[in-house]
Amino acid sequence: MAAEPIYLDHHATTPVDPRVLEAMEPYWRRDFGNAASRGHLFGWRAEAAVEDARERIAAAIGAEPREIVFTSGATESNNLALLGAARARRRGHVVTVATEHKAVLDPVRALEREGFRVTRLPVEADGLLELPRLEEALADDTVLVSVMAANNEIGVLQPVQEAAGLCRERGIPLHSDAAQALGKIPLDLAEWPADLVSATAHKLYGPKGVGFLFVRNRRPRVRIAPLFHGGGHERGLRSGTLPVPLVAGMARAVELAVAEREADAVRMGALRDRLRARLEAELPGVHVHGDLVRRLPGNLNCGFEGVDGEKLLLALPRLAVSTGSACTSASPEPSHVLAALGVPEALARASLRFGVGRETTGAQIEAAADQVVAAVASLRGEAR
Ligand SMILES: Cc1ncc(COP(=O)(O)O)c(C=O)c1O
Repeated sequence: MAAEPIYLDHHATTPVDPRVLEAMEPYWRRDFGNAASRGHLFGWRAEAAVEDARERIAAAIGAEPREIVFTSGATESNNLALLGAARARRRGHVVTVATEHKAVLDPVRALEREGFRVTRLPVEADGLLELPRLEEALADDTVLVSVMAANNEIGVLQPVQEAAGLCRERGIPLHSDAAQALGKIPLDLAEWPADLVSATAHKLYGPKGVGFLFVRNRRPRVRIAPLFHGGGHERGLRSGTLPVPLVAGMARAVELAVAEREADAVRMGALRDRLRARLEAELPGVHVHGDLVRRLPGNLNCGFEGVDGEKLLLALPRLAVSTGSACTSASPEPSHVLAALGVPEALARASLRFGVGRETTGAQIEAAADQVVAAVASLRGEAR
């Protein structure tokens, strides 16, 4: 059997950590109850597991347990935050950033169709949002601002804390999509003035299909119109039977990611830097996209001049990487993120996103660099 390709696509998803799998195990069969069953032991046990998970997630991120609303993942959390908070206000102005994930941009477009006024802020060539642009955009009728914490394609870290401060001074709620950031950068919601924060378990070695929305408990609390009706679970914000094993797994995954964050960051950052150093030393015409300092430790995104984008991926069958974001790769358009940075279309198409993970080894990075150098050189018609 041929060897598995090297997995360097950890922004798309991550494998479940064995410790997470272990934490989920009791809730598939032994303690399988419905957390909303109030009349018997099976339900009580499931409810206890859910509340224990809520407390542990809250403790790991500086939140209160009642500020955590369980969802199916960051797409749902973003939709609940954006559609929910805007619709509760009925009309007004919504501000977001051009490089957000589609799970933010698409609900914002839906709000625009419903009559909300929308501003999509541009970013600079390094992918970062300049705060004065946000400040200028805020208006008397602004009802919500959404700025992601870490970009899923180029890994840059937006100044969310400062943006949230600006919004708070004006009484405007700020939402942040932290799907790529939680467990990767310091994130203490006791310090962050954001009101709504989205997260998902499968980006941090937890299971797919579960996430949460942090809804700050302050006066006045941000009002949210629920997306689903029925049952009144999660304080009426998200009806639906909770997936107890997934919730328990997510709590363990969040705890581990937060506890091991610093050590993981140092190791993954060194591997990412090694990959970048080799590509830049061994190939001319390599363009790294996005700021290099304010960046996720495991992210590298670079374009290779003079190479056809489609042929590049085909020339790398032993490497699991992506061009643009996995969630948009079904559509043939070049990445909207790279376009927002002003990257020319041909270079954007000839760009690869590398995502180093917890289990990535030095040997895998060397092998990946060998493969990319050989593929680019061969597509450029150079013998190596
Ligand atoms: C920044 C960002 N937001 C949202 C999502 C969607 O998350 P989920 O897969 O949990 O719906 C992703 C995942 O691709 C992401 O990277």
